[in-house]
Amino acid sequence: MRSVQGCCSLRKSLFTISTSTSWCAWRRIILQQCVRLPVRLPAGQQRQLQMRAFGTGLASGGRMGSNNSDKSDRHLVAVREERFQELVAAEVAYLATVPVKPVSMRQIVTWRNARDMVPTIQKEVPKRFALRIRLIETLDGWQAIPELVKMHDLLTGWYRDLVLLDYKNPDLASFVRSFKSIRDEGRHTIALSASGIYKLRNKLGKFSQQETNFLDEWLDGFLLSRIGTNALIDQFIAIASKEDGGLGRPTGITDPRCNASNICRFAAQVSSYMCYQRFGTEPKYIVQDYQAGRVGPQEKSPCYFSLIPSYLRYIMCELLKNSFRATLLTEIDISSRPVHIRVCNDVHHVAILVSDEAGGIPFEVGDQIWSYMYGTAAKIGTVNSFSTEGDELDNPESLTGYGVGLPCARLYARYLGGKLSLTSYPSYGTQAHLILPRLGSPP
Ligand SMILES: Nc1ncnc2c1ncn2[C@@H]1O[C@H](COP(=O)(O)OP(=O)(O)OP(=O)(O)O)[C@@H](O)[C@H]1O
Ligand SMILES: [Mg+2]
Repeated sequence: MRSVQGCCSLRKSLFTISTSTSWCAWRRIILQQCVRLPVRLPAGQQRQLQMRAFGTGLASGGRMGSNNSDKSDRHLVAVREERFQELVAAEVAYLATVPVKPVSMRQIVTWRNARDMVPTIQKEVPKRFALRIRLIETLDGWQAIPELVKMHDLLTGWYRDLVLLDYKNPDLASFVRSFKSIRDEGRHTIALSASGIYKLRNKLGKFSQQETNFLDEWLDGFLLSRIGTNALIDQFIAIASKEDGGLGRPTGITDPRCNASNICRFAAQVSSYMCYQRFGTEPKYIVQDYQAGRVGPQEKSPCYFSLIPSYLRYIMCELLKNSFRATLLTEIDISSRPVHIRVCNDVHHVAILVSDEAGGIPFEVGDQIWSYMYGTAAKIGTVNSFSTEGDELDNPESLTGYGVGLPCARLYARYLGGKLSLTSYPSYGTQAHLILPRLGSPP
């Protein structure tokens, strides 16, 4: 391997030149338009450029890097940081136009070996980051909103980290390290994007229902893409061996014998504790199991099914935080109005009903409860500035936050192939219906 003198010794600035791989038109355009390489190629030789940084093979139909002979004549070249950034920006712009191939939850959970996931990760994850970067850039005035700028910077950094990984000879430990840091840095994504969009809308001064709908749909798309990306990343970390820094779980993020009622109980305990912290008192709740073919609650037959426990926990926490909070705010004797959580299942589905007697939601509110622009913060009329130091709104476990609980819970339900809906009985209470398909056949 011949190293060519460059301007910067940063590892992240390295890319490789190969004489033998297939020529990708889009890369040539990027290189011709954005980069004047600080290297002179030998005259007469038909050189082709393959950036290791760009070695995702995303648009090359798999040909790039697949040629064995390119190992023999690969040269390392260094480019300046600004040029590298230009390349990243150009590749992001291109990739955001490439259709994203949906990777279903069922497909994700069938992976049992982290190495087998590498080609899909290489192909699909950077593409999804690129899509989200471009989504932010489509918003008029995003540069004036610190939360959106931060989100944009984070996504660009993750994109760069991912494309710099060596996909030909994957070192699983470094993959796991990168993914863990992406997940860690991205833990405030919902708060960042929701408060960013909220501020963007308020900057408009007067805004129409159409604009609100547009921003709701924008957030739906943005966050759904995040759920899909995280599912891939989490499955990778979960099935990677402990030696590689993973969790070494043979079934990955899925629990093939997930006890749905225990998860509901756990979510109820967590939400109840939050109420205690906020109001100094806890609501009453009852969790019951029901099974198809048997009438009445089944005390000794809990509902087991194959599911991703963290997703169900998230959805249930959001529903229960709302019901508990509403119950405690009504200030009528809470012991006579427990929140009921009924977990019902048949061979194909699990259906969970959460019902409270907290007075319901006024009819005129209607579908607004599914808007990211409705909810406690919006009603108060303020959203605090996002800071990673963490105020109450930044804390994903706070009882009430940005007004994203219901729309986000519905996104998770949809991602799992299920449904979440709410029925309000004004002055009586609210019923939330969650239906999820089993990921596998019943155990
Ligand atoms: N069970 C319920 N009873 C009464 N009102 C409810 C109930 N569930 C939801 N709501 C109303 O719907 C609004 C939106 O709920 P959502 O969970 O999306 O946001 P939030 O609870 O205000 O904030 P976040 O969930 O982000 O912490 C709530 O603010 C509340 O007014
Ligand atoms: Mg809520």
